[in-house]
Formats: sequence, structure tokens, C-alpha cells
Amino acid sequence: MRRYAVTNPRCRTLPLASKLDDYCARMPDMETAPPGGQAEVSTRRAEQLSHVWPTGTHRNNRGELVIGGVSVAEIAAEHGTPVYAYDEVTLRESMRRYRDAFTRELPGCRVVYAGKAFLSTRFVRVLVEEDLGLDVVSGGELFVALRGGMPPSRISLHGNNKSRDEIQMAIEAGIGKLIVDNFDEIEMLAELCAGRETSMTVLLRVNPGVDVHTHKKISTGMADSKFGLPIVDGQAARAVAQLAATPGVHLAGYHAHVGSQLFDAEASLDAIGELLDFSASMRSEYGVELEQLSPGGGFGIPYLDGDKPPVPERWAEMIANAVRVGCNDRGLPIPVVVIEPGRAIAGPAGVAIYRVGSRKELPGVRTYISVDGGMADNIRPSLYDAAYTAALANRAGGEDRETVTIAGKYCESGDILIENVSLPRLQRDDLLAIPAAGAYCLAMASNYNMSLRPAVVMVSNGETHLMRHRERLDDLIRLDVLSSI
Ligand SMILES: Cc1ncc(COP(=O)(O)O)c(C=O)c1O
Repeated sequence: MRRYAVTNPRCRTLPLASKLDDYCARMPDMETAPPGGQAEVSTRRAEQLSHVWPTGTHRNNRGELVIGGVSVAEIAAEHGTPVYAYDEVTLRESMRRYRDAFTRELPGCRVVYAGKAFLSTRFVRVLVEEDLGLDVVSGGELFVALRGGMPPSRISLHGNNKSRDEIQMAIEAGIGKLIVDNFDEIEMLAELCAGRETSMTVLLRVNPGVDVHTHKKISTGMADSKFGLPIVDGQAARAVAQLAATPGVHLAGYHAHVGSQLFDAEASLDAIGELLDFSASMRSEYGVELEQLSPGGGFGIPYLDGDKPPVPERWAEMIANAVRVGCNDRGLPIPVVVIEPGRAIAGPAGVAIYRVGSRKELPGVRTYISVDGGMADNIRPSLYDAAYTAALANRAGGEDRETVTIAGKYCESGDILIENVSLPRLQRDDLLAIPAAGAYCLAMASNYNMSLRPAVVMVSNGETHLMRHRERLDDLIRLDVLSSI
């Protein structure tokens, strides 16, 4: 197994720095993070807000942060806090940049949004309008995709433990593609597809044995992974033989996803090489032609001011080049490439808005500022040490800056949203906005401590549209069964 060096500039050693610089040179108006890592954004005026904020985010003449033409104070007054706001311009811009860049480099390429990052019917409608596909990983996500109006042919079903019911639901809905993860699934597919008029198109998810150094909990392509079948021990080849011999199933190609929040392409490009080697050997052994190839998603986004991941156009160039050269070297036809960005589509558009509550000063230790949300709406910092920046949102703030830790309100010591961020002195009832909160926050939200999941709005051209209601107290007992004893 190959191991790769650091993929995220938050890590201090950066053997790939020169390559990163090359990619980042293409990104306009990038700023450099202060040496401590955490960003200082709170007193910035409009023109000083960095690229971690949605397009057009600025401060109005009252000093309030404005997203999508709507002040954060207005959003909070109308919908309460915590509330998540998606900027429609940024959202569509991300979709278009990935779609246009990849189809320009690889004609016929399909950009399939990974719905696990965030999903709602309104969001699905935007995906449909922007001509993206949707990758789902459960019957629940499939239900939302269909209700949101995604054409079934543009849906693919992933998952390492799909139930029989989920597979059946997907087949009956007429989804475009199922990504096979294991042998149990092949058995279920054989049974469910037997005798059907149209065959089910599948890709086989393989484990390419590529270890990428993003956080362990979001890395998926190393030898010890629950996802896909390993190439190295022959399991993937055995699955190909079985799939090729299964009536009602059409094996169209191979898939691998090496990890998430990637800041360089080394591991993805190497996975493509492994996939193409595997494709060539499956063609000669079993006559299976490579029609489709998916290197998954994983495209990183900036969370902190200094974060500089490759831009979509650069990802497209690198992946297209690897596919073209790799196919040429092995005498393979260029397949339809399928990419699955999740975070890179939903993440940059979303801003989490909280209200400031209690303040606790521990001399010589730290100052805690608690907000009215936390791990129930964003578990990423507790789960895998994800770092965020923040801005005071209802006023510009003065020169009285201090370094504080932003704590959530839930009953876990680990419920910390941001450690050591420099902000103007916060007062009770101030609003705090956290950017890059559009992916894997609400998607992993819970009702811990019987909290209510936040409202979600779309902001665009100075208007706010509700995408999802805030939960009400009644929702907390809606499914309870009261004992009659
Ligand atoms: C198979 C697959 N595709 C796509 C994604 C989306 O990854 P990201 O949101 O990092 O683009 C994931 C994330 O885990 C995944 O497992």
C-alpha cells in the first residue's frame, strides 16, 4: 500500500507545498492565515471578508454581516437561532464550476452530487435545474431525491450495507446506477434482478489500497476500510466474475473514493491508475469493457482563511489528464467519468448563525463563550477536530479583540465549536456566524438533549426562502408511544 504525505495545509509539514502553491496560484484573492492557524475575520469590512464566506458576503453600513443580500440579523429575527443560511448564488456557482470544468475536460462526464453532505427537497430542485445527478446512500436519501424531483435515471445508490428493501426500492424507482460494495449485495441483486426486462447498471466499488492522510475518519481507500472490495487479494476480481455472470445486471465499470476534504490530487490520481490497471486486467480475463469510471468525490474546501484547495478547474485538468494518459497507455477506450462532489457543492454556500449566551472566564486557562447550538447541529469539531472560523455578525465590533473558545450548549465537554478564535469582545445576544457550514453539519444533526433541529433558509437577491422549518417541541414527542399504564 502506498502512503501519501499531508493533504491538508492545517497540518504543519507540507512535502507537497510546491504543488499546492501551483494550484493556489490560480485562485484569486487568497489570503494567508495568521501563523496560529485560526482566522481573524471579525472586524473586517465588506472588501476584507475572505474566500471562506459565500460570494458577495459583506457588511452593510450598520456593520451587520450580509449574505445573499440579506443581513444575518434579519435572518435571525425572522427564523430564530440557530439557523443555517445557504447562499443560492454560491451554491449554483459551485455546481456550475464543477459541471462545466469536468464536462469541458471530459465530454460526457457526469457530476453526481453526494447527497450525504446535505439534502432537502428544495436543494434537490436546484441540482435538477443545474443538470447534476445525485448519489444517495440509503432508502431515506432516495426518498428525498425522488420527492425533490430528481429524475431516477440520474440517481445512483451507494452504501456498504444496503438492505434488500433499499435495493428493491432503487430498482423499482428505476435509478440509473447501483454501486456494488460486497458479495452479499451481489446475491441480493441476482435475486431481485432475475427476470426483469431491463438490466440494472452497476459499478463495482473497489478498494484501491491507497492511504490518504486526511483525517482517519474521512479516509476510505486504505487497505483497512469497510468500503469496497480489495483489489490486492483478488476479492474485487472475484466480484467481477460473479457480476459478469449475473443475468439482469450490467457491470459498466469501477468506482473508488479515497477520502474527503482532500487538498491535493496525488491519492485520487493514483487510485485512477489502480482502477485502470484493474479494468485492463478484467477486460482480458472476463471480457468486461470499461464504460464508466468513478474516482468518487473528496474535493476539499476552505474552512480557514489560509486554506487553499485546488479549484474545480484544476481538479478537472488533473483527473482528465490521468484518465486520458492512463487509458492511452493501457489501450483502453476513454470511459464516461463520474465524479461525486458533496462537500465542495454544499459546503461553501452554508453559514451557521448562532446567538451568544453565557461567558465564562477561567484565568490562565481560557474564556468560554457559549452559543445556542453546538454538536447537535454540527458534530464535526467533536467528531474529527474540524476547524472553523467565525465572525461577529450583528455589528462590526471594535478594537477590543480577545481570543475565546466557542462552546456549544450541550452536555458534553467535547461540545466545542471553535477553539481559540480571535473576535471582538462578544456580548450576550450578539450573533455569531460560522462559514463553510453547508456540508456534513445538518446532515449529521441530532436531537441530543432534546434540542430542536435548526431552520434552514436559502438567501438570494435580498430575499429569504424557508427550506426547512425549525423543529417544534411537538416534534420531539411526535413518534412517542405513551404507555397506558
Ligand atoms: C462514495 C463517496 N462518494 C462521494 C463522497 C463525497 O465526498 P465529499 O463530500 O468529500 O466530496 C463520499 C463521502 O464520503 C463517498 O463516500
